Amino acid sequence: MTSNTDIEVAVQEATATLRRGGIVAFPTETVYGLGADAENPEAVARLFMAKGRPADHPVIVHIGDAEQLERWAVDIPPSAALLAQRFWPGPLTLILKRDARVPDAVTGGQDTVGLRVPDHPVALALLAAFGGGIAAPSANRFGRLSPTTAAHVRTDLGEAVDYILDGGSCQVGIESTILDLSGARPRLLRPGVITADALEAVLGEKLAGPSGNAPRSPGALPSHYAPRTPLVLVPPEDLAAEVVRRLEKDERVAVLARSVATPQIEWLFLSGSDFTECAWQIMPADPDGYAHELYARLHALDALHADCLLVEAPPAEAVWQAVRDRLARAARARLD
Ligand code: TXA
Ligand code: MG
Repeated sequence: MTSNTDIEVAVQEATATLRRGGIVAFPTETVYGLGADAENPEAVARLFMAKGRPADHPVIVHIGDAEQLERWAVDIPPSAALLAQRFWPGPLTLILKRDARVPDAVTGGQDTVGLRVPDHPVALALLAAFGGGIAAPSANRFGRLSPTTAAHVRTDLGEAVDYILDGGSCQVGIESTILDLSGARPRLLRPGVITADALEAVLGEKLAGPSGNAPRSPGALPSHYAPRTPLVLVPPEDLAAEVVRRLEKDERVAVLARSVATPQIEWLFLSGSDFTECAWQIMPADPDGYAHELYARLHALDALHADCLLVEAPPAEAVWQAVRDRLARAARARLD
């Protein structure tokens, strides 16, 4: 167990690293972020290099409280204050018209900026100690799975990070909901655990869906959030047969199931398959529990280097939208 003094010392070290223009990985309630001083364009450029991300993609600026919105954004609509009051600190990113002093490196040259107050004690301590905004994409290499533990960050980025703040595993487990408030109507750019329904209830109006010409947003690229193992979404009723079909072709199969129980060993033997070639994990039945576990389980199954990763498709209901979105992108990545 890490003591409070250890955390304070680590936060001081991380703050000093940011002030020097260094790169710090830190926990948030959603996923780990890879942070740099948002007002230091060279530091942000290093961040993009570490991540392997194209320089014209914008990053979210993390701030310590909603009062700091005005330092980063202009023409802030009243709806932003309403949403901030209801959901911050929390897993909601607001896209607003940028203030002129926001570096192009942060916005990818666009006229908007993404802002959020993360709900994690270590992130909030870091933001308070640092005082400024921290530009941070998820702490993974471009196009790969987001990290939900410090170990994931170490494995994926290692030496590319100057300092890693370890805050345990992330509670939410998938990236924030992104809502664009810079246009005529609020537009959902990325679904998350704060659902469209919850946003509409506060706003009192319907959201526009993602548009075809949305601003450059890697979260909106089909090849995002992908494990290395080819991932295939399979309807629950087809899962058992699909596993058998692949085992019969001598494929090594990893399965992320939800409602379909691990098949009986005799059953797989009867089908002529070698059970040791099939890793089967059962996910929580509820969407929040599922989101919390998703990346950690995908990281673990990906590390088995199976020939395929079969994922039981989650239900179609609205509460599953964010999870379905991440899985659909991970599956599509392999069809490019
Ligand atoms: O939960 C999260 O949002 C995590 C944690 C670390 O805060 N961050 C995260 O960052 O997921 P990233 O960069 O992996 O995804 C942020 C998404 C990207 O798709 C980016 O293009 C989009 O937000 N974004 C950032 N600023 C934007 C802007 N001004 N306009 C449109 N999209 C923007
Ligand atoms: Mg990301």
